[in-house]
Amino acid sequence: MRDAAPKTIHLKDYTPFGYLVDEVRLTFDLAPDATRVTSRIAFRPNPETTDRRFFLHGEELRLLRAAIDGAEIAPEITDEGLICAVPDAPFVWEAEVEIAPAANTALEGLYLSNGMYCTQCEAEGFRKITYYPDRPDVMSTFTVRINGTHPVLLSNGNPVDSGEGFAEWHDPWPKPAYLFALVAGDLLAHSDTFTTVSGRVVDLNLWVRPGDEGKCAFGMEALKKSMRWDEEVYGREYDLDVFNIVAVDDFNMGAMENKGLNIFNSAAVLASPETSTDDNFERIEAIIAHEYFHNWTGNRITCRDWFQLCLKEGLTVFRDAQFTSDLRSAPVKRIRDVIDLRARQFPEDQGPLSHPVRPESFQEINNFYTATVYEKGAEVIGMLKRLVGDAAYAEALDLYFARHDGQACTIEDWLKVFEDVTGRDLSQFKRWYSQAGTPRLTVEEAWQDGTFTLTLSQETPATPGQPDKLPQVIPVAVGLLNPNGDEVRATEVLELTQARQSFSFDGLAARPVASVLRDFSAPVVLDHDLSPEQRAFLLAHDTDPFNRWEAGRALAGQCLLDMITEDAAPDTAYLDGLTAVLRDDGLDPAYRALMLGLPSQSELAATLHQRGLIPDPQAIWEATETLRQTTAQHMQDLLPRLRAEAQIEAPFRPDADQAGKRALGSAALALLSRLDSGTQAAADYACADNMTLQLSALSCLLKAGKGEVELAAFYDQWRGDRLVIDKWFGLQVALAAPEQAAETARRLSAHAEFNWRNPNRFRAVFGALAMHHAGFHHASGAAYQLLADWLIRLDPVNPQTTARMCSAYQTWRRYDNDRQLLIGAQLDRILAQPNLSRDTTEMLTRIRG
Ligand code: ARG
Ligand code: ZN
Repeated sequence: MRDAAPKTIHLKDYTPFGYLVDEVRLTFDLAPDATRVTSRIAFRPNPETTDRRFFLHGEELRLLRAAIDGAEIAPEITDEGLICAVPDAPFVWEAEVEIAPAANTALEGLYLSNGMYCTQCEAEGFRKITYYPDRPDVMSTFTVRINGTHPVLLSNGNPVDSGEGFAEWHDPWPKPAYLFALVAGDLLAHSDTFTTVSGRVVDLNLWVRPGDEGKCAFGMEALKKSMRWDEEVYGREYDLDVFNIVAVDDFNMGAMENKGLNIFNSAAVLASPETSTDDNFERIEAIIAHEYFHNWTGNRITCRDWFQLCLKEGLTVFRDAQFTSDLRSAPVKRIRDVIDLRARQFPEDQGPLSHPVRPESFQEINNFYTATVYEKGAEVIGMLKRLVGDAAYAEALDLYFARHDGQACTIEDWLKVFEDVTGRDLSQFKRWYSQAGTPRLTVEEAWQDGTFTLTLSQETPATPGQPDKLPQVIPVAVGLLNPNGDEVRATEVLELTQARQSFSFDGLAARPVASVLRDFSAPVVLDHDLSPEQRAFLLAHDTDPFNRWEAGRALAGQCLLDMITEDAAPDTAYLDGLTAVLRDDGLDPAYRALMLGLPSQSELAATLHQRGLIPDPQAIWEATETLRQTTAQHMQDLLPRLRAEAQIEAPFRPDADQAGKRALGSAALALLSRLDSGTQAAADYACADNMTLQLSALSCLLKAGKGEVELAAFYDQWRGDRLVIDKWFGLQVALAAPEQAAETARRLSAHAEFNWRNPNRFRAVFGALAMHHAGFHHASGAAYQLLADWLIRLDPVNPQTTARMCSAYQTWRRYDNDRQLLIGAQLDRILAQPNLSRDTTEMLTRIRG
């Protein structure tokens, strides 16, 4: 049970725990309703502090017995843990508790999923398993014995012993409790080995439920590539005899980096060509890499406290992005990451949930596993690397691993290795970690006597709790192009440190066109007042692939805004420029497919809001549809050629090359379907032999108002496959007309296969509804209400997933009064529920503002 008035935890209040843990021994006697957990923990006084208060976290535990040095004690039990008197000397703590995994629907701690025992302890789930100082700065080795009838019994580290009904594991690397894991189930292994750079052979296993064996090969290859890459690029070798990955169906997030025993949402690891799209494959590869890379950035070096979450997450996201760039296409990865940043992080940073990359307070830490901590956290590292250069970055990372291996660290420790390596003072740079909000970067140009001057200014809007911002260090990558299209100045990184600052380029024969913020060198909103002709010029000539794409994006954005606000016709400069790029078959198909994308409708709403206008979701929807239709007509002759280019004779491979071709083919089919009302899509659907093509054809059909037969056939074909059925649910909501979206979601939520306790299924329907901009914000308010109904229902069962979904409402202040009243009423209705979780209460209180 939660306290009535939730406590706020502050970074500034950090104090170390009074005791160190030398060793943990755990025994699990597994039973669905009464699992017995016996712990034996060796404590000793922490020389770093004189505070000897002894408190162990513990929630929803039934204490059966506790003893200190063999003598039974009766500790004082609270909602959050226990307190007792202990010796001011080393001692052994023993406890026996009982827990009920079968009743654990929150999917935190030890729970059951389809008969399989599974744990999730980050951030504070271990306290639901036994009494313990559940904080990341308390690190210890663990020895775990599991008594249970399941054929497969797994925990962290190396296997020590096993036999009929038991297994024992030992993890020699000291770790915080959040990295503890246990799995027990009737599982099959897809096995392989990896030989590390120093010649040690590591056993690799991907454990799945019977029936999923055919979906393991890709994940295993991704794991081996990750292990090799981390050796080659970061000099990091794996450190145990075995690496286990387990796929589980009921999981609140993507995956978890438990030491030697990663646990994955099955959607984030299982893949086959028949059931997974190219996007699924790429995401799975990235998540496997991400969790594996945590072994060094997260596990060997962990966080002192949860405020430092970005220390491991920002760095690990940055590393997995480097990995994907190396394996696939760097420009395509960069563009996709920026699209994602703008779709998820910008709205967060520009609304009531805005918080610094390193938050300074929280009520529920699970609410801070955010795009800001993860993705902006990774952007901050990218900026640091750009500022110090690749060589210094590599040196700083070596120093970080050498200096801090085995420690629980802070952002200060992280920045100090860069200061020590480069001699730079990073105190101003550190504001990226403490100031919330997206800086706005404004560019002014001047030209005189062969000198071109860029004046850059920065301003960060006020965010909750932070009315005034100081200037940050912004690396602005700039290149200059001659009017003939040649590059006259190669990319150079300007360091903007003041509120306003000028940078000059002299000796130029003609006024250049400036390409600013190349490669998206900083996570800012760029305000560079270029004419449509200049943007069209950059779209045709920029040598920086990111900015070339960005020029097309900006043209499309301006065109849509003019259509929305002035009833303008689609801009032919944009359409001609776009067509020219699409015609250029020297360009990567994946890149051209990205060129065909439009700014999202939510992004357009944000831009209108920033310009002091009130966005009308329906008008945004209609403008987007019109521009799509016009694009299709404009490119009519080109579409068959693009489709021909996308033909692949070779057997299916989920690599960047084939995926890019399929992406271009799908984009062309989407346009074509607007002209032939789905005839080609129906033909494509009939012969699709992989999920990428099947799903893209089905989407085109649904969009064209067709596909009823195919939708039913799809369901029948895949009814046994829960991940594909998730797609079936999500697609229908995503492609519904705005006025149909809420009703479609409601209808699907009444479907027999809508298991709302499963986070993947819940998100398939309601995540899709929240992301359907015009549908979610339909003037009727039906979607606002439907989502609230379901959040009220889900909260007592699974607070984490409920709280996360509340962010659907975070942009509410952008919209008109009527919509604000409708949303406000739903927020209040949820908040008025008795016993609302701490997670959801905190989220809604912040959103309400
Ligand atoms: N550390 C995990 C990862 O980055 C995610 C854990 C999320 N935990 C949570 N409580 N939301 O992959
Ligand atoms: Zn992570």
